[in-house]
Amino acid sequence: MTSTTIKRFEEVEDPNIRKRVKLDNQETKKYLDEQIEYILAHRAVEHPFLNYYRKNKLTKEQEKKLFLECFYFFQYLPFYITGMALHTRDENILREVILNVIDEVGSKVTHSMIYRDFLHQIGITNEEFENYKCLPTTTALNQGIMKLYTEPPIEKCLGALYADETMSATMVSKLNDGLENQEYDKKLRNFWLIHINVEVGHSNNVFNAISPYISEQDTRELFEKGMNGFLELVATYWDGVEALLLGNQT
Ligand SMILES: [Fe+2]
Repeated sequence: MTSTTIKRFEEVEDPNIRKRVKLDNQETKKYLDEQIEYILAHRAVEHPFLNYYRKNKLTKEQEKKLFLECFYFFQYLPFYITGMALHTRDENILREVILNVIDEVGSKVTHSMIYRDFLHQIGITNEEFENYKCLPTTTALNQGIMKLYTEPPIEKCLGALYADETMSATMVSKLNDGLENQEYDKKLRNFWLIHINVEVGHSNNVFNAISPYISEQDTRELFEKGMNGFLELVATYWDGVEALLLGNQT
């Protein structure tokens, strides 16, 4: 039986969201579904701070720091994802990578522009933004992702991306809940609202890219290495944000 969690990735109706390819091999599908369950149960996703923020208000200063740290987490990720293209000669993988990046930068108003607009709307000036020094754990996360995405082999890169996109599908929803709890309207939460479904499509991009290869045990090991490398960096990132904003409160 398919769990509700998996249905979210499997039963996409929005024509703008990438769907999974149909697999003949049910064992491969089962393996990739199990990785989704694994990622979503990981401390990087079920982090005490993220769960705290859904239901507890932050002060203006705490809120600004939270979303500035997020900015330095996300910064340049579409460039890093594009770097994966150098490690494959499979056009199916290239297509999924390109479709992912197109969502971020394919329109005149890119997603990073929408994020900056969100920062302005919560009161962060360009000056605050430019002078902000993010946590070392945030720099480590961003640089760690660059390495995971741009250094071969492609199986490890795609494992990291599967963890990233699957994790993001839940993280953006939790951050949106927190903003709603702060009583911000839908217009201000636009960046987060659009990404709740976009990230599901991005996880499906990776599902489609890796599925022809993932029945091999060697491929699975590399894929899981990328997944776990990514998730550990994110868990440490949230530990840093939690200590910065709350001390050891949660
Ligand atoms: Fe994404």
